[in-house]
Amino acid sequence: MDYWIAPSVLSANFARLGAEVDAVTAAGADLIHLDVMDNHYVPNLTVGPMVCAALRDHGVTVPLDVHLMVSPVDDLIRGFADAGARYISFHPEASRHVDRSVRLIRDLGCRPGLVLNPAAPLNLLEEMLPELDLVLLMSVNPGFGGQSFIPYVVDKIRRLRQMMTARGASARLEVDGGVKADNIAEIARAGADTFVAGSAIFGAPDYAAAITAMREALHGLDSPA
Ligand code: DX5
Ligand code: ZN
Repeated sequence: MDYWIAPSVLSANFARLGAEVDAVTAAGADLIHLDVMDNHYVPNLTVGPMVCAALRDHGVTVPLDVHLMVSPVDDLIRGFADAGARYISFHPEASRHVDRSVRLIRDLGCRPGLVLNPAAPLNLLEEMLPELDLVLLMSVNPGFGGQSFIPYVVDKIRRLRQMMTARGASARLEVDGGVKADNIAEIARAGADTFVAGSAIFGAPDYAAAITAMREALHGLDSPA
């Protein structure tokens, strides 16, 4: 299984964001996860397209995985597509027209994803699953880094993987929130292949050691059931 580690810059030192992204890239990151919050859809405010563009212009070499925790979404989809995003994912409750927003991401040359909060049912994905390159399951309630993984999400990951296998879906299955070296193997065995980690990486003294510990925990796991 081709596992990807996506450090979330939410827990990075924003006073030196470019250097932080360079450091986790050198430490082995597969994606850079950018948590975009508007203090409307979630009770926090982070960054806009200009920060994404600044990282692109700084020369970030790994794809930018933009997680929109905003409502509405379409104008920011355009903004982040222009700013160099590779993946753009949004919460279906945050768009009046989910199909139109997903197609907008694809039409702008980016890879679309939908994000489900812990209590959001998998059937919200039913119609759009074949159109997605990414499904992101939140394992914390969105808005803040450093929260604890919500255990019932493991079964939800397992059911989503079964759903994707049954449908022949090729999307990445990403999990976001409370992912650590000591729970990543369980999350992978349930069926995830892409892992967002903010505090577990940026809160560590050695980013390479933190990512390596995650990869070692993933090493040798059978492919998801
Ligand atoms: C929540 C954010 C966080 C972040 C990961 O809205 O999406 O989940 O990416 O933060 P940690 O890894 O610190 O839980
Ligand atoms: Zn996120």
